[in-house]
Amino acid sequence: MTASQQPPVLVTRRLAPGVIERLTAQYEATLHDDDRAMDRAALLAAAPGRRAVLTTLDDRVDEEFLDAAGPQLEIVANHAVGYHNVDVAACAARGVRVTHTPGVLTAATADMAWALLLAATRRLGEGERLLRSGTPWTWGPNFLLGLELAGTPLGVLGMGRIGQAVARRARAFDMPVSYYNRRPLPIEEAEGADWKPLEELLATSTVLVVTCPFSAETRHLLDARRLALLPHGAVVVSMTAGVVDEEALAAALDSGALFAAAVDNFEHEPAVPASLLAQERAVLAPHLGSATVRTRQAMGGLAVDNILAVLGGGRALTPVRR
Ligand code: GLV
Repeated sequence: MTASQQPPVLVTRRLAPGVIERLTAQYEATLHDDDRAMDRAALLAAAPGRRAVLTTLDDRVDEEFLDAAGPQLEIVANHAVGYHNVDVAACAARGVRVTHTPGVLTAATADMAWALLLAATRRLGEGERLLRSGTPWTWGPNFLLGLELAGTPLGVLGMGRIGQAVARRARAFDMPVSYYNRRPLPIEEAEGADWKPLEELLATSTVLVVTCPFSAETRHLLDARRLALLPHGAVVVSMTAGVVDEEALAAALDSGALFAAAVDNFEHEPAVPASLLAQERAVLAPHLGSATVRTRQAMGGLAVDNILAVLGGGRALTPVRR
Protein backbone atom coordinates (compact mmCIF):
# COMPACT_ATOMS: atom_id res chain seq x y z
CA MET A 1 0.00 0.00 0.00
CA THR A 2 1.38 3.44 -0.81
CA ALA A 3 1.33 6.13 1.87
CA SER A 4 -1.67 7.84 0.31
CA GLN A 5 -3.68 4.58 0.38
CA GLN A 6 -3.09 3.88 4.10
CA PRO A 7 -6.10 4.22 6.41
CA PRO A 8 -5.89 7.65 8.04
CA VAL A 9 -5.43 6.40 11.60
CA LEU A 10 -2.80 4.14 13.14
CA VAL A 11 -3.43 2.60 16.57
CA THR A 12 -0.25 1.07 17.94
CA ARG A 13 -1.68 -1.25 20.59
CA ARG A 14 -4.74 -3.36 21.38
CA LEU A 15 -7.08 -1.10 23.38
CA ALA A 16 -9.45 -1.82 26.27
CA PRO A 17 -12.76 -3.46 25.33
CA GLY A 18 -15.14 -1.25 23.39
CA VAL A 19 -12.69 1.58 22.65
CA ILE A 20 -11.56 0.90 19.09
CA GLU A 21 -15.18 0.70 17.85
CA ARG A 22 -15.70 4.38 18.69
CA LEU A 23 -12.89 5.23 16.32
CA THR A 24 -13.65 2.79 13.53
CA ALA A 25 -17.29 3.91 13.48
CA GLN A 26 -15.97 7.10 11.88
CA TYR A 27 -12.54 6.45 10.39
CA GLU A 28 -10.71 3.57 8.84
CA ALA A 29 -7.83 2.56 11.07
CA THR A 30 -4.93 0.15 11.15
CA LEU A 31 -4.81 -1.53 14.55
CA HIS A 32 -1.70 -3.25 15.87
CA ASP A 33 -3.92 -5.78 17.63
CA ASP A 34 -1.38 -6.99 20.17
CA ASP A 35 -0.73 -6.45 23.87
CA ARG A 36 2.94 -5.80 23.11
CA ALA A 37 4.34 -2.62 21.61
CA MET A 38 5.21 -2.44 17.91
CA ASP A 39 8.92 -2.74 17.33
CA ARG A 40 10.60 0.35 15.99
CA ALA A 41 10.94 -0.84 12.40
CA ALA A 42 7.26 -1.85 12.25
CA LEU A 43 6.21 1.47 13.76
CA LEU A 44 8.22 3.46 11.22
CA ALA A 45 6.94 1.27 8.39
CA ALA A 46 3.33 1.79 9.51
CA ALA A 47 3.60 5.57 9.93
CA PRO A 48 3.55 6.95 6.34
CA GLY A 49 0.42 8.69 5.19
CA ARG A 50 -1.47 8.77 8.52
CA ARG A 51 -3.46 11.75 9.70
CA ALA A 52 -3.60 10.51 13.29
CA VAL A 53 -1.69 8.07 15.43
CA LEU A 54 -2.75 6.71 18.81
CA THR A 55 0.44 5.93 20.70
CA THR A 56 1.48 4.47 24.06
CA LEU A 57 4.48 5.32 26.23
CA ASP A 58 6.49 2.66 24.37
CA ASP A 59 6.23 4.41 21.00
CA ARG A 60 8.92 7.01 20.48
CA VAL A 61 7.61 9.96 18.48
CA ASP A 62 10.70 11.89 17.40
CA GLU A 63 12.02 13.56 14.26
CA GLU A 64 12.63 10.16 12.65
CA PHE A 65 9.05 9.09 13.27
CA LEU A 66 7.67 12.43 12.07
CA ASP A 67 9.78 12.22 8.91
CA ALA A 68 8.48 8.71 8.29
CA ALA A 69 4.87 9.76 8.90
CA GLY A 70 4.92 12.71 6.52
CA PRO A 71 3.51 16.25 6.51
CA GLN A 72 -0.17 15.21 6.56
CA LEU A 73 0.08 14.01 10.18
CA GLU A 74 -2.28 16.10 12.34
CA ILE A 75 -2.33 14.51 15.78
CA VAL A 76 -0.40 12.21 18.09
CA ALA A 77 -2.84 11.06 20.78
CA ASN A 78 -0.83 9.51 23.59
CA HIS A 79 -2.64 6.92 25.68
CA ALA A 80 -1.11 8.10 28.99
CA VAL A 81 -0.98 11.17 31.16
CA GLY A 82 2.81 11.21 30.68
CA TYR A 83 4.38 12.02 27.31
CA HIS A 84 8.12 11.60 27.71
CA ASN A 85 8.01 9.35 24.61
CA VAL A 86 6.94 12.31 22.45
CA ASP A 87 9.18 15.11 21.25
CA VAL A 88 6.52 17.76 21.82
CA ALA A 89 8.66 20.59 20.43
CA ALA A 90 9.34 18.69 17.21
CA CYS A 91 5.60 18.00 16.82
CA ALA A 92 4.77 21.67 17.48
CA ALA A 93 7.34 22.80 14.90
CA ARG A 94 5.50 20.73 12.29
CA GLY A 95 2.02 21.73 13.44
CA VAL A 96 1.24 18.26 14.82
CA ARG A 97 -1.06 18.37 17.86
CA VAL A 98 -0.08 16.20 20.85
CA THR A 99 -2.67 15.08 23.38
CA HIS A 100 -2.55 13.01 26.56
CA THR A 101 -5.09 11.56 29.00
CA PRO A 102 -5.05 13.57 32.23
CA GLY A 103 -7.83 13.39 34.80
CA VAL A 104 -9.36 10.06 33.84
CA LEU A 105 -6.62 8.01 35.53
CA THR A 106 -6.33 10.04 38.72
CA ALA A 107 -8.46 7.88 41.02
CA ALA A 108 -7.03 4.56 39.83
CA THR A 109 -3.46 5.80 40.16
CA ALA A 110 -4.05 7.28 43.63
CA ASP A 111 -5.63 3.98 44.69
CA MET A 112 -2.53 2.14 43.48
CA ALA A 113 -0.27 4.51 45.40
CA TRP A 114 -2.22 3.58 48.52
CA ALA A 115 -2.14 -0.14 47.68
CA LEU A 116 1.64 0.08 47.46
CA LEU A 117 1.92 2.32 50.51
CA LEU A 118 -0.02 -0.21 52.58
CA ALA A 119 1.84 -3.18 51.12
CA ALA A 120 5.21 -1.57 51.90
CA THR A 121 4.40 -0.34 55.40
CA ARG A 122 2.76 -3.66 56.38
CA ARG A 123 5.32 -5.89 54.64
CA LEU A 124 2.78 -7.72 52.51
CA GLY A 125 5.25 -8.74 49.81
CA GLU A 126 7.54 -10.36 52.35
CA GLY A 127 4.61 -12.15 53.99
CA GLU A 128 3.31 -13.48 50.68
CA ARG A 129 6.72 -14.68 49.57
CA LEU A 130 7.24 -16.42 52.91
CA LEU A 131 4.00 -18.37 52.63
CA ARG A 132 4.48 -19.27 48.99
CA SER A 133 8.01 -20.48 49.63
CA GLY A 134 6.71 -23.00 52.17
CA THR A 135 8.95 -21.57 54.90
CA PRO A 136 7.74 -22.66 58.37
CA TRP A 137 6.25 -19.75 60.28
CA THR A 138 4.30 -18.98 63.39
CA TRP A 139 2.44 -15.96 64.71
CA GLY A 140 4.58 -14.04 67.19
CA PRO A 141 4.62 -10.66 68.92
CA ASN A 142 7.63 -9.66 66.82
CA PHE A 143 6.72 -11.35 63.55
CA LEU A 144 6.87 -9.11 60.41
CA LEU A 145 6.11 -5.90 62.26
CA GLY A 146 5.20 -2.95 60.12
CA LEU A 147 4.80 0.77 60.36
CA GLU A 148 1.50 2.15 61.65
CA LEU A 149 -0.06 4.98 59.66
CA ALA A 150 -2.30 6.94 62.04
CA GLY A 151 -0.44 10.08 63.09
CA THR A 152 2.51 9.32 60.79
CA PRO A 153 3.52 12.28 58.58
CA LEU A 154 2.88 11.75 54.88
CA GLY A 155 4.74 13.81 52.29
CA VAL A 156 3.47 14.18 48.74
CA LEU A 157 6.12 15.17 46.24
CA GLY A 158 4.18 16.69 43.33
CA MET A 159 0.72 17.90 44.25
CA GLY A 160 -0.96 17.70 40.85
CA ARG A 161 -4.21 15.82 40.33
CA ILE A 162 -2.79 12.48 41.45
CA GLY A 163 -0.94 13.96 44.42
CA GLN A 164 -4.11 15.70 45.56
CA ALA A 165 -6.07 12.45 45.30
CA VAL A 166 -3.38 10.68 47.35
CA ALA A 167 -3.63 13.45 49.98
CA ARG A 168 -7.44 13.19 50.06
CA ARG A 169 -7.24 9.47 50.80
CA ALA A 170 -4.78 10.15 53.64
CA ARG A 171 -7.60 11.70 55.69
CA ALA A 172 -9.17 8.27 56.07
CA PHE A 173 -5.90 7.04 57.58
CA ASP A 174 -5.50 9.98 60.00
CA MET A 175 -2.17 10.98 58.51
CA PRO A 176 -1.05 14.62 58.60
CA VAL A 177 -0.05 15.59 55.05
CA SER A 178 2.54 18.03 53.69
CA TYR A 179 3.55 18.51 50.09
CA TYR A 180 6.09 20.07 47.80
CA ASN A 181 5.27 21.71 44.50
CA ARG A 182 7.23 24.45 42.80
CA ARG A 183 4.48 26.82 43.99
CA PRO A 184 2.10 26.38 46.92
CA LEU A 185 -1.43 25.56 45.75
CA PRO A 186 -4.47 27.72 46.46
CA ILE A 187 -5.89 26.60 49.77
CA GLU A 188 -8.96 24.97 48.19
CA GLU A 189 -6.76 22.60 46.14
CA ALA A 190 -4.34 21.70 48.93
CA GLU A 191 -6.58 19.07 50.55
CA GLY A 192 -5.63 20.34 53.99
CA ALA A 193 -1.93 19.69 53.33
CA ASP A 194 0.85 22.14 54.20
CA TRP A 195 3.38 23.28 51.60
CA LYS A 196 7.01 22.84 52.59
CA PRO A 197 10.26 23.51 50.76
CA LEU A 198 11.56 20.29 49.20
CA GLU A 199 14.35 19.58 51.66
CA GLU A 200 12.11 20.30 54.64
CA LEU A 201 9.43 18.03 53.22
CA LEU A 202 11.95 15.23 52.92
CA ALA A 203 13.29 15.76 56.44
CA THR A 204 9.79 15.55 57.94
CA SER A 205 8.07 12.81 55.88
CA THR A 206 8.04 9.34 57.39
CA VAL A 207 6.12 8.18 54.33
CA LEU A 208 6.84 9.92 51.02
CA VAL A 209 4.74 9.41 47.89
CA VAL A 210 6.28 10.61 44.62
CA THR A 211 3.66 11.77 42.11
CA CYS A 212 5.37 14.61 40.24
CA PRO A 213 5.62 14.33 36.45
CA PHE A 214 8.87 13.11 34.93
CA SER A 215 10.84 15.78 33.09
CA ALA A 216 14.42 16.89 32.55
CA GLU A 217 14.13 18.85 35.84
CA THR A 218 12.68 16.00 37.92
CA ARG A 219 14.95 13.23 36.62
CA HIS A 220 16.70 11.76 39.68
CA LEU A 221 15.33 14.54 41.86
CA LEU A 222 15.46 11.96 44.64
CA ASP A 223 19.10 11.01 44.39
CA ALA A 224 21.26 9.51 47.17
CA ARG A 225 21.80 12.91 48.79
CA ARG A 226 18.12 13.79 48.97
CA LEU A 227 17.06 10.27 50.00
CA ALA A 228 19.47 10.65 52.92
CA LEU A 229 17.44 13.65 54.14
CA LEU A 230 14.43 11.42 54.91
CA PRO A 231 13.98 10.38 58.54
CA HIS A 232 15.65 7.08 59.44
CA GLY A 233 13.16 4.28 58.77
CA ALA A 234 11.10 6.20 56.21
CA VAL A 235 9.09 4.61 53.40
CA VAL A 236 9.19 5.83 49.78
CA VAL A 237 6.41 5.09 47.28
CA SER A 238 7.32 5.97 43.71
CA MET A 239 4.57 6.45 41.14
CA THR A 240 6.70 8.22 38.47
CA ALA A 241 9.54 6.45 36.71
CA GLY A 242 12.86 8.27 36.67
CA VAL A 243 12.28 10.71 39.54
CA VAL A 244 13.73 8.40 42.17
CA ASP A 245 17.24 7.14 41.39
CA GLU A 246 16.54 3.40 41.53
CA GLU A 247 20.11 2.42 42.46
CA ALA A 248 20.19 4.98 45.27
CA LEU A 249 16.82 3.69 46.50
CA ALA A 250 18.11 0.12 46.56
CA ALA A 251 21.21 1.26 48.46
CA ALA A 252 19.08 3.11 51.03
CA LEU A 253 17.02 -0.04 51.58
CA ASP A 254 20.12 -2.18 51.78
CA SER A 255 21.71 0.00 54.45
CA GLY A 256 18.52 -0.01 56.53
CA ALA A 257 18.17 3.78 56.20
CA LEU A 258 14.71 3.20 54.69
CA PHE A 259 12.18 0.88 56.28
CA ALA A 260 10.63 -0.04 52.93
CA ALA A 261 9.89 1.23 49.45
CA ALA A 262 7.40 0.60 46.68
CA VAL A 263 7.88 1.31 43.00
CA ASP A 264 5.15 1.18 40.34
CA ASN A 265 7.18 1.94 37.25
CA PHE A 266 10.78 1.92 36.22
CA GLU A 267 13.17 4.15 34.35
CA HIS A 268 14.19 1.51 31.80
CA GLU A 269 11.04 -0.57 31.55
CA PRO A 270 10.59 -3.45 31.27
CA ALA A 271 13.97 -3.83 32.97
CA VAL A 272 13.89 -3.78 36.77
CA PRO A 273 17.25 -3.22 38.47
CA ALA A 274 18.67 -6.38 40.06
CA SER A 275 19.58 -4.26 43.09
CA LEU A 276 15.88 -3.57 43.75
CA LEU A 277 14.79 -7.15 43.03
CA ALA A 278 17.26 -8.22 45.72
CA GLN A 279 15.56 -6.09 48.40
CA GLU A 280 12.97 -7.91 50.52
CA ARG A 281 11.58 -4.56 51.64
CA ALA A 282 10.88 -3.35 48.10
CA VAL A 283 7.34 -3.83 46.79
CA LEU A 284 7.63 -3.85 43.01
CA ALA A 285 4.70 -3.47 40.63
CA PRO A 286 4.78 -3.75 36.83
CA HIS A 287 3.42 -0.28 36.00
CA LEU A 288 -0.13 -0.88 37.23
CA GLY A 289 -1.09 2.66 38.29
CA SER A 290 -3.92 3.14 35.81
CA ALA A 291 -4.66 -0.55 35.27
CA THR A 292 -8.40 -0.88 35.87
CA VAL A 293 -10.97 -1.69 33.19
CA ARG A 294 -12.86 1.54 33.79
CA THR A 295 -9.76 3.73 33.66
CA ARG A 296 -8.27 2.05 30.61
CA GLN A 297 -11.59 2.46 28.79
CA ALA A 298 -11.62 6.12 29.78
CA MET A 299 -7.99 6.64 28.70
CA GLY A 300 -8.57 4.93 25.34
CA GLY A 301 -11.85 6.80 24.95
CA LEU A 302 -10.19 10.14 25.59
CA ALA A 303 -7.37 9.40 23.14
CA VAL A 304 -9.97 8.47 20.52
CA ASP A 305 -12.07 11.56 21.26
CA ASN A 306 -9.00 13.75 20.77
CA ILE A 307 -8.44 12.14 17.37
CA LEU A 308 -12.10 12.54 16.39
CA ALA A 309 -12.05 16.19 17.46
CA VAL A 310 -8.90 17.08 15.54
CA LEU A 311 -9.70 15.10 12.38
CA GLY A 312 -13.15 16.69 12.48
CA GLY A 313 -11.50 20.11 12.29
CA GLY A 314 -11.98 21.01 15.96
CA ARG A 315 -9.70 21.65 18.91
CA ALA A 316 -7.95 18.90 20.80
CA LEU A 317 -9.74 18.12 24.10
CA THR A 318 -6.68 17.51 26.24
CA PRO A 319 -3.64 18.97 24.48
CA VAL A 320 -0.21 18.65 26.05
CA ARG A 321 0.71 22.12 27.24
CA ARG A 322 4.28 23.14 26.66
C1 GLV B 1 1.82 6.52 33.11
O1 GLV B 1 1.65 5.39 33.09
C2 GLV B 1 1.08 7.52 32.39
O2 GLV B 1 -0.12 7.33 32.09
O3 GLV B 1 1.72 8.53 32.11
